[in-house]
Amino acid sequence: MNILVTGGAGFIGTHTLIELYKAGHTAVVIDNLSNSNPESLRRVAEIIGLPEIPFYKVDIRDREGLEAVFSKHKCDACIHFAGLKAVGESVEKPWEYYENNINGTLVLVDVMRHHGCKNIIFSSSATIYGDPAEIPITENCPKGQCTNPYGWTKSMLEQVLMDIQKADPEWNVVLLRYFNPVGAHPSGRIGENPNGIPNNLMPYITQVAVGKRKELGVFGNDYPTPDGTGVRDYIHVCDLAAAHVCALHAIDRKCGIGIYNIGTGHGYSVLDMVNAFIRVNHVDVPYSIKPRRAGDIATCYCNPAKAAAELGWRAQYGIDDMVRDSWHWQRNNPDGY
Ligand code: NAD
Ligand code: WQD
Repeated sequence: MNILVTGGAGFIGTHTLIELYKAGHTAVVIDNLSNSNPESLRRVAEIIGLPEIPFYKVDIRDREGLEAVFSKHKCDACIHFAGLKAVGESVEKPWEYYENNINGTLVLVDVMRHHGCKNIIFSSSATIYGDPAEIPITENCPKGQCTNPYGWTKSMLEQVLMDIQKADPEWNVVLLRYFNPVGAHPSGRIGENPNGIPNNLMPYITQVAVGKRKELGVFGNDYPTPDGTGVRDYIHVCDLAAAHVCALHAIDRKCGIGIYNIGTGHGYSVLDMVNAFIRVNHVDVPYSIKPRRAGDIATCYCNPAKAAAELGWRAQYGIDDMVRDSWHWQRNNPDGY
């Protein structure tokens, strides 16, 4: 298939491009580069062994820009990564998050249907479960109260896409609820490249290890978890990328609506991750215990059985691979791209 990849220059998008080409698909990327660098796409092409990946610097809110891309390229499906994703920033700038993520997706979907492309895989998030009603989380777990506008954009967009599919069954909509993506391509050429101070645990750990930050603050050690620190379902970004290729099979089978948790099913604490990083990579990661971070929950991990049964997808990488590949990327690229 030929796939339109929005946000394809970003962390998950770049890794997914590699899996798409490996599986025999082709791609056209659009990205406004608001949180990425075109060097990432140059490196993707280098890894795949192509001169370049078709790329357009287009904003998903730009109807004319999208029309031009769809007029030039016939796309069978869209994998829709483009969006703003910083939780804390979304609390400061709710309008910008709702406008970019929701308006952007509405414009994208409208242009898609005008061009007869009614297949979409959407990047949703475990955050839509709020403080989850059950652990491990299955897809039947009710959606919860999000603690920030970013989370609400994901929750609302799930509803928007499901309503559109219900009204027009020609649509196939796959909602992939990612848990906590970490790691990097084993080549060490592409990886996560956050602007400024990282919000997420793994890039913070790697920046401490490489000497860019003094120490990691561990946000709370009094949660009801085995060691008191927060437990999450970390997933290697290459596994996550492969899930999108499996989701294309569901689209091929005319799935209508498909909703899947994409995680490993294992919960690791903050200290599990820090200790694995130190053990596998033989580097020090100084840390100190800080107060809890507002909005955090104690434990979040999924039951990924539905994705295994229906998509034939299972995570292949473990925690040692995750910390090794995260470090390989950071050590080789201390200042990102
Ligand atoms: P990222 O920021 O690295 O990639 C997103 C890309 O979208 C960036 O390259 C950015 O420039 C682009 N973009 C943003 N707004 C755009 C717009 N209006 N028009 C065109 N391009 C635009 O983020 P990522 O980690 O690769 O995440 C990809 C998707 O997965 C996002 O939708 C994110 O919300 C979702 N997600 C991420 C995580 C995570 O922890 N990384 C977890 C769950 C869900
Ligand atoms: C993981 C654990 C922190 C940083 C977020 C979004 C979610 C999704 C993934 C997009 C928690 C602890 C972290 C630090 C720490 N993104 N931590 N010190 O909060 O599970 O999920 O990213 O959809 O929507 O909310 O991920 O990596 O920020 O935190 O102790 O410097 O690490 O408290 O227990 P989170 P995270």
